[in-house]
Amino acid sequence: MNNEKLEKIIDSSRTDQKELIHILHDVQSEYGYIPPEAVTAISRRLKVSESEIFGVLTFYNAFSLTPKGEHVMTVCMGTACHVRGGPQIVEDIERKLDVKVGETTADNKFTLETVNCIGCCAIGPVVVVDEKYYSNITLNKIDPIINEYKEDKS
Ligand code: FES
Repeated sequence: MNNEKLEKIIDSSRTDQKELIHILHDVQSEYGYIPPEAVTAISRRLKVSESEIFGVLTFYNAFSLTPKGEHVMTVCMGTACHVRGGPQIVEDIERKLDVKVGETTADNKFTLETVNCIGCCAIGPVVVVDEKYYSNITLNKIDPIINEYKEDKS
């Protein structure tokens, strides 16, 4: 973990406890998760107990306490996507990536997650990779999506 970057995020101008959520968001977007060292540093800087910070982290599921893969693949399992094949899509991706929901592939390329409705039910089933939405997903669209990111050299 780059401590210089962390120091920049929680610099001395951000000592107000109201900054907690903003700081956590910044840490998450820099590292992809909230490392334990960051919790300790934020706790000291804002004078908030670590257990309070963990309370916030577990309350908002936008935060992750474990490192994620290079790409986060999210399958919508809300009602509309569910009835149009969401569970089969999840199973297929689990098999192809050899992970279960919540896990990261051995090469660290993908983390597989599910979500309950992302507000675009009309184009479901929906899969989101990072920020990109894929609509009307059928099983034969999954390989091309995976390959798009496998070949990505980023
Ligand atoms: S149920 Fe999937 S977008 Fe609404």
